[in-house]
Amino acid sequence: MAILVTGGAGYIGSHTSVELLECGEDIVIVDNFSNSSPEVLEKIKEITGKDFKFYEADILDKESMDKIFKENDIEAVIHFAGFKAVGESVQKPIQYYTNNISGTLVLLDVMKKYNCKKIIFSSTATVYGSPKIVPVKEDFELHTESPYATTKLMIEKILQDVYTSDNDFSVVVLRYFNPIGAHKTGLIGEKPNGIPNNLMPYITQVAAGIREQLNVFGNDYDTPDGTGVRDYIHVVDLSLGHLKALEKARKEKGVNIYNLGTGIGYSVLDIVKAFEKVNNIEIKYVITDRRPGDVAMYYADPQKAKEELGWIATRDIDEMCKDSWNFTKKNM
Ligand code: NAD
Ligand code: UD1
Repeated sequence: MAILVTGGAGYIGSHTSVELLECGEDIVIVDNFSNSSPEVLEKIKEITGKDFKFYEADILDKESMDKIFKENDIEAVIHFAGFKAVGESVQKPIQYYTNNISGTLVLLDVMKKYNCKKIIFSSTATVYGSPKIVPVKEDFELHTESPYATTKLMIEKILQDVYTSDNDFSVVVLRYFNPIGAHKTGLIGEKPNGIPNNLMPYITQVAAGIREQLNVFGNDYDTPDGTGVRDYIHVVDLSLGHLKALEKARKEKGVNIYNLGTGIGYSVLDIVKAFEKVNNIEIKYVITDRRPGDVAMYYADPQKAKEELGWIATRDIDEMCKDSWNFTKKNM
């Protein structure tokens, strides 16, 4: 039996595919390359020395999805495919609702038809909105502030309803904090198109000389050094969380929700300093206005994932900064 990885050519999907293959799982990837490229599949093979089946298809295309389930014995789905840019979702809400929600509905419909009832879903810490207290626990109030976040919250609710209607389902919802870093080999990582929105890709582009300086969005927040605090997690640790989630889905039915974060908050300037130290490169920065919609500080309480999945993040901020730069250097 195989694990279907939707969006497996993407940033988190490719790292998770590597870990799945390395632990002997049989995988099938489906991706339409809307935010990735075919070379990633070759890199996954190069890292693992293993082969897997791939379908270039849109998860919205029911016929293609049906074909995948007909041709393969799919035991479980790890569902990464979706659009993920918060700002873009405000400009293009219809595309975001269609791709993320309709795509998931097509997937669930086909899963049901083929009696595949285990799903691991990529959710986000953005569903907590602006948390009043930190660290953030899974039972905190949920509040979304962008179409992107709303799609994720709606999918969480859809998955809950699917389970309510059919108690044979095993649903694991993973709320990611801020994934950064890359595979040790530097063969796979995150390569955003155009001007990066997120902190680490921006820093690596400054280090590479592609951008002149980092704009630090505000230093007047109520945080230790005034800059925004986040829970950055190494993408390989995050990927390993999916293997633990899969174990959980295999042994237990129901809906389980977990934060995947380190539990440690770092400020923008902490990240700049760590990056400079481990890579021996100066990162020029200027303090600018706050970015609209940003919150001062949030980081995870990862205790539930530790207790129930036996998962903890082990890679520290230095390793995250080192691996992010190693990937960028090799893929400029
Ligand atoms: P990504 O864009 O790198 O990967 C998503 C992959 O899905 C891409 O390869 C893309 O081509 C594919 N895809 C998108 N729509 C598709 C469709 N309709 N049919 C087939 N393939 C499709 O993103 P990522 O960073 O790897 O994120 C993976 C998931 O995790 C997403 O659902 C994202 O919303 C969620 N997430 C990401 C972050 C983050 O910071 N990266 C944080 C929280 C949650
Ligand atoms: C953003 C998304 C979130 C997503 C996450 C990881 C928003 C509102 N939220 O979160 O949904 O899950 O990315 O992909 O967009 N910063 C700078 N200069 C920069 C870029 C960022 O100072 O050029 C600061 C930000 O103000 C923030 C921190 O760095 O304090 C992290 O920013 P970013 O990497 O964009 O992540 P989030 O804002 O946490």
